[in-house]
Amino acid sequence: MSGDSVSRRGFLKLCASTGALVASSPSLLARTPAERSHNTPARLLHNSGRPLRLEDLVVGENYVFHYPYVSTPCFLLNLGKPALPREGLEMDDGRKYNWRGGIGPDRSIVAFSAICAHRMSYPTPSVSFINYRHEQMTYTDQEFKLAHREQVIYCCSEGSVYDPAEGCRVLGGPAPQPLAAVDLGLDEATGEIRALGMYGGDMFERFFEKFAFQLELQHQVRDIRAPVGPDTEVLPLGTYSLNTNVC
Ligand code: FES
Repeated sequence: MSGDSVSRRGFLKLCASTGALVASSPSLLARTPAERSHNTPARLLHNSGRPLRLEDLVVGENYVFHYPYVSTPCFLLNLGKPALPREGLEMDDGRKYNWRGGIGPDRSIVAFSAICAHRMSYPTPSVSFINYRHEQMTYTDQEFKLAHREQVIYCCSEGSVYDPAEGCRVLGGPAPQPLAAVDLGLDEATGEIRALGMYGGDMFERFFEKFAFQLELQHQVRDIRAPVGPDTEVLPLGTYSLNTNVC
């Protein structure tokens, strides 16, 4: 049984039992996906306060939630097409990892850190220089040629481009690695969605060092490293940020 299928089916049972299992059989640690970090589940909530469901997610809309920390934003997207697993993504330190693909009946729901892998531009309540573009756009690819693609995440700061249907691999611009991935889980009985952990190059420590003061002000918290808690609210990017159409 792969770590992928474990994370997506029956994860509630798994979460309750993993601690006891690992304690009684340390060899099970070897089966934990080595690249995943921040393994604290958080349930995604609709902004009405109820659990978010797959059908709430409009194809092509940008959604933002914070995970695994109160100050670290992530994108949640319904791509409207299957997003299948992809092997061999590479972090800027050379380590490789496999992206697990989307969730839902057609595997179209994906989530990634919204912190750009270049200089960490991120969505704030006043502006977002990074967002998902469902419609076709023009950008400069990695060979410095003009390219035309729909369904990319684009960072206006210096033009990094990511493909969310392929683990946010870099399509263009100066980003040295994909956006870190959120491992999503779906409770098939209730339809609830949870963030289960992160994997890939998450950059959180650099993010906290660079933006500590701004993050304290934006989130009105003293501890920007506080875990998000058992629930995290999902908002359309246009609700979370005043200005999103900046380039
Ligand atoms: S911060 Fe995103 S491209 Fe530079």
